[in-house]
Amino acid sequence: MIATTSTAPAIATTWASPAGATVGAAGRAPVTSGAATDALVQVRGVTFAYPDGTVALRSLDLSIPRGRKVVVLGANGCGKSTLFLHLGGVLRPKAGEIVLDGEVVRHDRAGLLRLRRTVGLVFQDPDSQLFASSVRQDISFGPLNLGWPEARVRTAVDDAIAATQIADLADRPAHLLSYGQKKRVAIAGVLAMDPQLIVADEPTAGLDPEATVRLVDLFDRLNAEGRTIVISTHDVELALAWADEVIVMREGEVIQTGLPTDVFQDMAVLRMARLHRPIVLETYAHLRHMGLVPEDAVPPRNAGELADLINCNCARIPED
Ligand SMILES: Nc1ncnc2c1ncn2[C@@H]1O[C@H](COP(=O)(O)OP(=O)(O)OP(=O)(O)O)[C@@H](O)[C@H]1O
Ligand SMILES: [Mg+2]
Repeated sequence: MIATTSTAPAIATTWASPAGATVGAAGRAPVTSGAATDALVQVRGVTFAYPDGTVALRSLDLSIPRGRKVVVLGANGCGKSTLFLHLGGVLRPKAGEIVLDGEVVRHDRAGLLRLRRTVGLVFQDPDSQLFASSVRQDISFGPLNLGWPEARVRTAVDDAIAATQIADLADRPAHLLSYGQKKRVAIAGVLAMDPQLIVADEPTAGLDPEATVRLVDLFDRLNAEGRTIVISTHDVELALAWADEVIVMREGEVIQTGLPTDVFQDMAVLRMARLHRPIVLETYAHLRHMGLVPEDAVPPRNAGELADLINCNCARIPED
């Protein structure tokens, strides 16, 4: 069952922190990297080259911890979409293997069926995903293909339409929608299949700010139900605020994984991956340099946490 809300979520001006996150000396609960936690997916030594000879993945290793929110970052052409197409079973490694829930993914009928029941892939380009004439038909396609009975398909489609708030689009032809509308329909099509792992390639690209906040909120609710969510994005503020773990890629390899606050303060990695430090951490670094926040403060993940830090520090300054 997909989480839905009867009322629209409040639209925040900044990304919220994970529930329970606190700022200050107590800090937030540490999130260990994939190696130490229960891995839902392990990518082991995967190499892939396209037919024209372009090598897109180079003996890539990574681990996706179960129940986490993971963000994959990296410059254009570093291999994010190629990786996601492997996770969704669309591409097959030339070398190496992908282990899903403890079992190596096989590209035979049974192996791919198991993969499609577990993993929902949202393509970067919605036109690669949508093909049926109406939005509702399009969203029904995945569940019907899984062989579900008609009543279950109907409920799943209605839930997915409600969760992505696209009821107004349900009877329109998919090919006539705007880019952002198509992205939301593509996400609904994946949700309707009730996947344990959602792999969404730049899901917020092209969405307006309100649709982006609603989608992030939906991903949070799906994650709270126990689903693992992996997205790629070029939005470093979103990655900092939302991810439990970030994976940084460069030229078909993983060059760093870890907590967003650690990775985004590693200037060498940011330079190598052509990433920028999020403005919240940039401001935090300036304030620390000026002595306006304590040296031992936990780095903020959004504007609200940054404001709290400044506020706490001001409260410590004795009045004469
Ligand atoms: N169909 C294809 N045929 C040949 N080369 C391809 C094909 N698709 C991607 N590539 C190449 O594979 C490499 C990885 O591309 P990929 O699309 O995975 O990058 P990306 O990290 O998703 O980039 P972006 O941020 O632009 O979406 C790039 O060098 C790209 O040019
Ligand atoms: Mg891509």
